[in-house]
Amino acid sequence: MRVSTVASSSPGRPAAEFDDIAPVYDESRGGTARAAGFAEQLAPLLDPALPVLDIGVGTGIVAAELTARGHTVHGIDLSPGMLARARARLGARVAVGDAGRLPVRTGSVDQAVSTWLLHAGPDNRAVLAEVARVLRPGGRYLVVPAGGTRPTDDIGVLVGELEDRLDPEGSRRDGPEWLAPIAAAHGLVYEGTASERPTSFAVSPRAMAESLTRGLFTGAWAVDGEATRLVDETRARLLALPSPDTPRVRRGADVVLLFHREP
Ligand SMILES: C[S@@+](CC[C@H](N)C(=O)[O-])C[C@H]1O[C@@H](n2cnc3c(N)ncnc32)[C@H](O)[C@@H]1O
Repeated sequence: MRVSTVASSSPGRPAAEFDDIAPVYDESRGGTARAAGFAEQLAPLLDPALPVLDIGVGTGIVAAELTARGHTVHGIDLSPGMLARARARLGARVAVGDAGRLPVRTGSVDQAVSTWLLHAGPDNRAVLAEVARVLRPGGRYLVVPAGGTRPTDDIGVLVGELEDRLDPEGSRRDGPEWLAPIAAAHGLVYEGTASERPTSFAVSPRAMAESLTRGLFTGAWAVDGEATRLVDETRARLLALPSPDTPRVRRGADVVLLFHREP
């Protein structure tokens, strides 16, 4: 696989925002435990004899865990700040690039992964079109969604409403009900959920409101104008929930969505 280094085709806010949070990214997202968990789910679904392209590789924390399990991982990311950390982990196999305009030859990729990318800024239609282009016939694309299926507790309902208002076309939705039809239009077949690991974490309405302030939850990133008003309104609604300092235990699952390029 050849990944050429190119200037970002769409520089701007997503890259800048990830540059800003790069120093705290790993710690604030579950550190090595999260990355190792994803690698445990992904590794059995990948062929260790073939290179893997990690699209939206970020700091390389997941790619490093795949490398430790015997895989050769190349990475692409829009954020130079995130990528500097990936380079320290993976060496020269990383490049700045846009997932919606991959600097990769058509039909040259055997297998690709994205963990927590499709909710984080790029248009899911552009990414799936590009993945379909670069995969060889029969090649695989594994996705670990961040949003996936939404929690239904009182916090989840409010944050879900905010995400819908910020993204009415669903271009950052990463659940299979959104991705499967887009993929199909580009010749990518959605096979289903290939791995599932139950998760649970506790968060209070106040902590979620503060996360929105700090931009830690991606639905609220890159907001200005009317969007800022919507975020402020959601923050106020979160703080108005009963017992705003009492954490809600939120159960979900880390899943791997499995796609393949039509042979
Ligand atoms: C939430 S982070 C996930 C990083 C990594 N996959 C992980 O699981 O730790 C999302 C990453 O997607 C990258 N990203 C956002 N938009 C992108 C785009 N259009 N092309 C490539 N990378 C992008 C960000 O720079 C960031 O590193």
